[in-house]
Amino acid sequence: MPNGGLSRLHLDSIASLSDGDIIYLLELAQYYAASLKAGKKIEKHLAGRTQINLFFETSTRTNSSFELAGKKLGADIIKLPIQSSSVQKGENLRDTVQTLAAMGADALIVRHREEGVIRFMAEALSEVGLPCAVINAGEGTKGHPTQALLDALTLLNHFGRTPQQGLKGLRMTICGDIRHSRVAASNAELMTRLGAELRFVGPAHMLPDEDFYPAISRGNGLKQGLAGADIVMALRIQLERMEDGPGLSNQDYFQGWGLSHQTMQYAKPGALIMHPGPINRGVEIDGTLADDRNHSLILDQVAMGVPTRMAVLDAFLSE
Ligand code: CP
Repeated sequence: MPNGGLSRLHLDSIASLSDGDIIYLLELAQYYAASLKAGKKIEKHLAGRTQINLFFETSTRTNSSFELAGKKLGADIIKLPIQSSSVQKGENLRDTVQTLAAMGADALIVRHREEGVIRFMAEALSEVGLPCAVINAGEGTKGHPTQALLDALTLLNHFGRTPQQGLKGLRMTICGDIRHSRVAASNAELMTRLGAELRFVGPAHMLPDEDFYPAISRGNGLKQGLAGADIVMALRIQLERMEDGPGLSNQDYFQGWGLSHQTMQYAKPGALIMHPGPINRGVEIDGTLADDRNHSLILDQVAMGVPTRMAVLDAFLSE
């Protein structure tokens, strides 16, 4: 088991993590991935600790894998159903967070549509001196740090590298609706810090402002965008974060930016496909490509969600 620790109490963003934090979290995630694969006994490092999953937005992968991860480490877990919680009676976020921490929660795993909510919650807990960790499980368009960590773990394991070796020499293209994607935001930061060369490609109105990512190149069309890519990450149209709709049809999105065996010929031979999920088949990716395990790492990403979140819970919660 890797030695180390974190200096911080909360997981707000990839940017909030030091290089040492990132290496430690990924080493721990590799350790847990190897332990699970080998069927080794998992030490109950979180016995007696309480984790509350607080998802104000829908989720399949993140919510379930955080629950599985906590259970494997022996934590007591509550998934608070927001629809039947006192949030519906008008309780504000500050009171909800302080209430849950006051009953003994050691960590709140939070998904929310508003940006800044993780920091707000952390401050609300600090105000009343409750030492409860707030873990970002997807916040607005700002970030989804555990998704980026599991994506990095998937690639490190695929290429047989350690976190120290990183992803140098690999080219990754992120394709599609990058502007509204918290996954893209966290991956842009993390993959770059691990040494990968990144490129964005997608409809012009779905690309982020140039100022946000001055060091990341942009492809002019899918052919140029995928040229030389070792890895291509597809993104769905994130309708839930658009005020005025997508501005193009599903058919046009697939026609211009959809990934298929045919369009993947623009990338390097044997290039890998990633997708954070959920997938919209026939919109951002053809179903046969998504299911082609010779190219697709999509189910590997899902599988790496569990050890990655074990690492995060262990690092942020162990006493
Ligand atoms: N990738 C991801 O966050 O998926 P869920 O919305 O299902 O958690």
